[in-house]
Amino acid sequence: MSHVFLFGCIFAPYLARFKIMEHVEKVIDEKKQGEALVIEQKKGNTKKLFIESYGCQMNMNDSEIVASILVNEGFNTTKNLEDADLVLVNTCSIREKAETTVRKRLQKYNAVKKINPKMKVGVLGCMAERLKSKFLEEEKIVDLVVGPDAYRDLPNLVEEVEAGRDAVNVILSKEETYADVSPVRLNSNGVSAFVSITRGCDNMCTFCVVPFTRGRERSRDPKSIIEEIRSMYDKNFKEITLLGQNVDSYLWYGGGLKKDFDKASEMAKATATDFAQLLNMCAAEFPKMRFRFSTSNPQDMTLDVIHVMAKHRNICKYIHLPVQSGSNDMLKAMNRQHTREEYMELVNNIYKIIPEMALSQDMIAGFCGETEENHKDTLDLMEHVKYSFGFMFAYSERPGTLAAKKMEDDIPLATKKRRLQEIIDLQQEHSLYRTQEHIGQTQEVLIEGVSKRDANQWKGRNTQNTVVVFPKEHYKMGDFVNIKIESCSSATLKGTAVGYSENN
Ligand code: SAH
Ligand code: F3S
Repeated sequence: MSHVFLFGCIFAPYLARFKIMEHVEKVIDEKKQGEALVIEQKKGNTKKLFIESYGCQMNMNDSEIVASILVNEGFNTTKNLEDADLVLVNTCSIREKAETTVRKRLQKYNAVKKINPKMKVGVLGCMAERLKSKFLEEEKIVDLVVGPDAYRDLPNLVEEVEAGRDAVNVILSKEETYADVSPVRLNSNGVSAFVSITRGCDNMCTFCVVPFTRGRERSRDPKSIIEEIRSMYDKNFKEITLLGQNVDSYLWYGGGLKKDFDKASEMAKATATDFAQLLNMCAAEFPKMRFRFSTSNPQDMTLDVIHVMAKHRNICKYIHLPVQSGSNDMLKAMNRQHTREEYMELVNNIYKIIPEMALSQDMIAGFCGETEENHKDTLDLMEHVKYSFGFMFAYSERPGTLAAKKMEDDIPLATKKRRLQEIIDLQQEHSLYRTQEHIGQTQEVLIEGVSKRDANQWKGRNTQNTVVVFPKEHYKMGDFVNIKIESCSSATLKGTAVGYSENN
């Protein structure tokens, strides 16, 4: 086990040691790793579905789509593995550990299947895509293998499986965005939700398996995005996070792959919607809702987006802006399309336009060929930016990626771990520094739940995504409240309510 924080992946045992995670639990939602999804029971449905998810928020969102498709096929969800007729596991391939965890779960299903031989088991998501029919051959208990673009085919595939045949569909699509399938969100807190706006990724970072498992990048029709948000608004949701592997690259020109945009008609090009425009539309259409987005690849981030953020008070002043490394040599080897200098310039411009902006990073320690000098460049860049939060990993070679094919995974594990720890230690310092900056301010907080430590306190986040706890008084879930920030621990702000915010 060599990585620490996970964004889009399974958790490391180290996790509990680092309070920084608390800041971002809504983005990653570590509590939901492996949690069985349970949605409203539909009358008359007799079959039982057990579905659990690992990995990124996109996977959690996809499982909600899968559940909503299967509810129409006679299934009701269950939390009890032992009762299930169909067990589905939505999987992650981002690091080796993520796959190991899922394989362990498959062993557990196998034990249950011995007691209940009628139970069928399906693998969904990135591992399904990566390992394809190998799953049916190697993991004998698997009956069904479904890639991330094939969930609409589930009714047919399940029928096949019920008839006693194995079923596989791992075809990646040019168009699929599940725009018209409305995910069911009954496991959520009823206040904040995720809405997918793009699928796939074209960036081909050399270490990353996502372009292979989730296919080429495509964007979802803005109309269907607005409609989905409207339905969430009508259900009293207060905060939406627009979700994609690379949201800043969003481009709707009538459907189709991002890479085919050049071939589109002049009319389609002239009426295309980019991410800044989409964000502007969402914020203007729903002024009472808060908006966040994730993830931003620096190479696709434009200052237009920052200007839209500055224009709307309901767009949260927080950007997850992964850089992976502070070294130009490593950025080049990783096929990131920017230099350290360009990244720093972007960050400087962001702070110039929105001085109170919070930024977070993803970092990879010990990528192929990383020298001590390269590693120091990463620490140096962190000193410059002083990120509020961080998600830090030791490099884990993934089969099929460009790095696996062309580069040597030559940094010893002990060195990777030591460098990772240095990065984490520095991030801890910066997180504390950033948290302390809030003390004395009065900030708008959206109430999202009860504090874990004290049932008499609410928990929410300020615009910068920092967790704030405060006495409950007469306030309730989903209220926007102004909080006077009085003190902090390394990751959590403490304060007292001074009244409802103007948004309420
Ligand atoms: N754009 C995506 C990034 C997906 S991967 C998103 O929405 O989150 C999330 C992070 O995992 C990456 O930014 C990177 O820091 C890390 N990661 C990806 N592949 C990795 C690998 N092979 N080894 C270690 N970390 C990796
Ligand atoms: Fe992966 Fe790079 Fe895309 S990290 S998800 S290939 S932006």
